[in-house]
Amino acid sequence: MSRFVHEPVLVDEVIRFLAPRPGRIYCDGTVGGGGHALRILEASAPDGRLVGIDRDPSALEAAGETLKPFAGRVTLVHATLGRMAQVLEDQGTPAVDGILLDLGVSSPQLDVAERGFSFSKEGPLDMRMDPTTGETAEDLLRRVSASELERILREYGEERYASRISRAIKEALRKGEVSTTTELARVVRRAMPHGAARRERIDPATRTFQALRIAVNRELEELGEFLRVFPELLNPGGRLVVISFHSLEDRMVKERMRELGWTSRLPRDLAQAAGERTEPTCRTLTRKPVTASDLEVARNPRARSAKLRACEKTEEGDP
Ligand SMILES: C[S@@+](CC[C@H](N)C(=O)[O-])C[C@H]1O[C@@H](n2cnc3c(N)ncnc32)[C@H](O)[C@@H]1O
Repeated sequence: MSRFVHEPVLVDEVIRFLAPRPGRIYCDGTVGGGGHALRILEASAPDGRLVGIDRDPSALEAAGETLKPFAGRVTLVHATLGRMAQVLEDQGTPAVDGILLDLGVSSPQLDVAERGFSFSKEGPLDMRMDPTTGETAEDLLRRVSASELERILREYGEERYASRISRAIKEALRKGEVSTTTELARVVRRAMPHGAARRERIDPATRTFQALRIAVNRELEELGEFLRVFPELLNPGGRLVVISFHSLEDRMVKERMRELGWTSRLPRDLAQAAGERTEPTCRTLTRKPVTASDLEVARNPRARSAKLRACEKTEEGDP
């Protein structure tokens, strides 16, 4: 197996906002190669514990290696983050003191051609983060109509030529002309209006591949399910830290945190009588998203689009 190397982003910021402490328990919902998890375990030494979740079995294998020195304090589970409540319940720790999500794909997922995530490496049209289950990108492309594909490309990829590209992809599939990543990328480039591709700073296939990856892995549905339940998964005073790389994800996180911080404007007794909230469920710790420094971006270009937001579950009786 090729070595799994993923440089974690915003590591100091994650530790600052999560504030891990000894004796507490944390959940890394996207443990990947275990880079952030390692720092959480160091910061919560000697007895802080961590449950690490990932849907990619090869990531869990890599995390197992990275976190070997902490073996007695770590449990790794193959699951999706939308199932975190069940995972924690199964571990006998229905609530934890901090949760980290570092969304999106890992570098090894992008780098291994056979995973089918990269348009610059010849591979099958797969794109599943968990290759053991679910629909591949090719299955999805064959199943959806051209108009559904157009919606996926427009919404998840912010692709302005979504209509032309989706029609071209469906046509190429019908003719049996596309079954690999590089073939798909060629179809996308050819579908762009004359000259449009040359005016781009990035490869025009980037947005289509991103959109398909999000759809194949149901990334927004997964995040939505997690955001719906996460306050119940935190102990009072427990914190959530989320790093996202896509504006749709960042917006979902921001809006959920805002909603949980909402309290009624009515006087307390009237609000209580009306069944309205008098205390916030969570307090946002980041008024604006935290981003990587120029130094970090120079070292790790993937950090450029990272946005970190954090909140804290209020203690009982907080004002
Ligand atoms: C950016 S990497 C995380 C890297 C990790 N923080 C580290 O330091 O190595 C994202 C990881 O989350 C996993 N992932 C993404 N969405 C997921 C989901 N809905 N459920 C479980 N794992 C997910 C991916 O398989 C990938 O391994």
